[in-house]
Parts: sequence; structure tokens; C-alpha cells
Amino acid sequence: MRIGLLTGGGDCPGLNAVIRAVVLRGTREWGHEFIGYQDGWKGPLENLTTELDVDRVRGILTEGGTILGSSRTNPEAVDGGIEAVIENVRGAGIDGLVAIGGDDTLGVARVLTDRGLGVIGVPKTIDNDLNATDYTFGFDTAVNIVMDSLDRLRTTGASHHRALVVEVMGRHAGWIALHGGMAGGADLILVPEEKFNLEEVCERVEAAFSAGVAPLIVASEGAMPLEGSEWTAAEGTDAFGHIRLGGIAKWLADQIEEKTGHETRSVVLGHLQRGGTPTAFDRVLATRLGYRAIEAATAGDWGNMTTLRGTSIELAPLADAVDESKIVPLERLREADNGYPG
Ligand code: F6P
Repeated sequence: MRIGLLTGGGDCPGLNAVIRAVVLRGTREWGHEFIGYQDGWKGPLENLTTELDVDRVRGILTEGGTILGSSRTNPEAVDGGIEAVIENVRGAGIDGLVAIGGDDTLGVARVLTDRGLGVIGVPKTIDNDLNATDYTFGFDTAVNIVMDSLDRLRTTGASHHRALVVEVMGRHAGWIALHGGMAGGADLILVPEEKFNLEEVCERVEAAFSAGVAPLIVASEGAMPLEGSEWTAAEGTDAFGHIRLGGIAKWLADQIEEKTGHETRSVVLGHLQRGGTPTAFDRVLATRLGYRAIEAATAGDWGNMTTLRGTSIELAPLADAVDESKIVPLERLREADNGYPG
């Protein structure tokens, strides 16, 4: 078989581990040939290909990013884009695609499958907001980066008796804030799933300082105050129509300082959360998802994505992943809040 591979959307640690697993197993076990498409859906849309074989994937397990490149190109937003992708892929004699991506990339995969082009999806995103899988690879690495950052910020905050507000990724889902905040012992975790009350945040800050603790607050980039009207986070949209967010930590830090009189600093972790080498958990998960993906492609199980269910790697229809995002249940937030500073 000839299989095309692409990585779309925001990059994340573990993409190369999936590519390596697909190519190694597909070549050695079934003798498949692989074509790398560059920069997400831009590759098949504009026929941008690159060589992909066992030699090319040697040693990439530990590398962050993606050797194929990525983009947020949306063929559905281009006139005749879906038709062009199908024509280019078929024209290259490719039997089907393995598309590694989040809800946007897999949404396009679903449309292509409905139009008769075989695609297997592999779920990735540091945000962990894809349905039908317990975890996405990249998330564990991002959470560890947040945890390390909180460990460092705690000591400098304590030395200077300052409050610190740390902004992490997560537009609609607060998984990184929740897990990173819990692991780093944050005093308050603010997520997009529940608007926060500024007065209550300030009370928490006061309570922490009274207990001799310099408070650490973790906020998802999509966290919003109850009085949402005075805070606008939008900075334009991407090709999939998503609003670009940013700035909640700075806004909140200014408000805390003004209302409590305690010196407060903000830190935006941003793309640091997406870079570098994957954790052991993400390397193993990505490799297992890759093995299962090429097995599914070989069997012609198109229209599915590989998923983690408990400790098993299974298949689920692409539709299950893209119809709705997986957001943080409020009981998980309550569980993370022990009510005491420190
Ligand atoms: O990968 C998803 C994500 O990390 C979101 O949480 C974030 O809003 C977005 O990517 C930012 O991506 P970029 O700046 O690369 O477009």
C-alpha cells in the first residue's frame, strides 16, 4: 500500500513518535510505502510532499515538533479545496491517509472520508480536549512544563511576597490549567468552563497572604471574569474561525494589585508548553497510537481514529471526536480546590 502522512494544527511533543511508529511498523510488517505531506492539509492541497521512509524516521522519537511541518490550513475554507485534496492524493497513487491532528484536522479527515477518501485519524493536542479518547499525547508534556514552571514561580513569588498569575493554553477547555495547577499546588485554578468572580479571587489572595503564603493562580487563556463585558480577549481568528486569545493573566494581575494592594506579576507560558522533547508517557502513548493507526489503515478501517480507553488502544469513528469537545467537568474543579492556601 501507499500511505500519505500529515500533521496538522498546533504542533505538540509526540508527533514525531507517531510518524516513526507508523513508518517503522508499516514498512517492516506490511512493506508499505510512505509519502510525507508537508504542513498539514496544505500538503495535499498544494501537492507538497517529502520523502518518508525508515531512514528518515530513525532517531526522531525524542524530538519535539514534527518533521513534516504543520499549519492550520483548512481546505474547506478554500474554493474547491476538498476536491483538490482528493484529486492530488489519488493522483499520487495513495491508498489512504494517516492524519495526525486535533479537532480541526480530524474534522477535515471526516469530510474527506465522507467523500470516499480513506483517512485514519490520530488524536493530538496539548489541550486534551478531544472526545472519544481518555488522553491526547502532548498533554502530559505540557502539564509537566506547567508544573515545573509553577515550582520555579513559587519560590520567586515567596521571596518577594508577590502574587503570581500564570496563563496557560486552553481556549475552551481548562485541562492544562487543572492538571498543571493541581500538580504544582496552585492556590486557585481558573478555567473557561466556569466564569470567575473577581472579588472571590481577591479574597483568596488576601487569605493566602494572611496565612503567610504568596499565592499562585493558574488561568487558562480562555478563562473569563463574571463581569465579562469589561474583558475582551479576541485578537483575530485563524483559518478554522477560532478566536486567538491572550492577556487574561496581565488583566487579572493588574486587577488584583489594584484591589488588594499586593504586588502581583503575570507570566504567560505560551508556546513553551508545546515545545521540546515528549515525556515518557507521551512517547509511549504516541507510539502505541501510531502502531494502531497503521494496523487500521492496512485493514481498511477508514473513517476512524485511534483512541486511548483506560490502558487499551482502540478505534472510534472520527465523528465521535469532532462533534463535541471534551471539557472539564465542574466536579473535577471542585476536587482540585482544597480551600486552603499553599
Ligand atoms: O494547540 C492548541 C493550542 O495550544 C491552543 O490552546 C492555543 O490557543 C493555540 O494552540 C495557539 O496556537 P497558535 O498560536 O500556534 O496558533
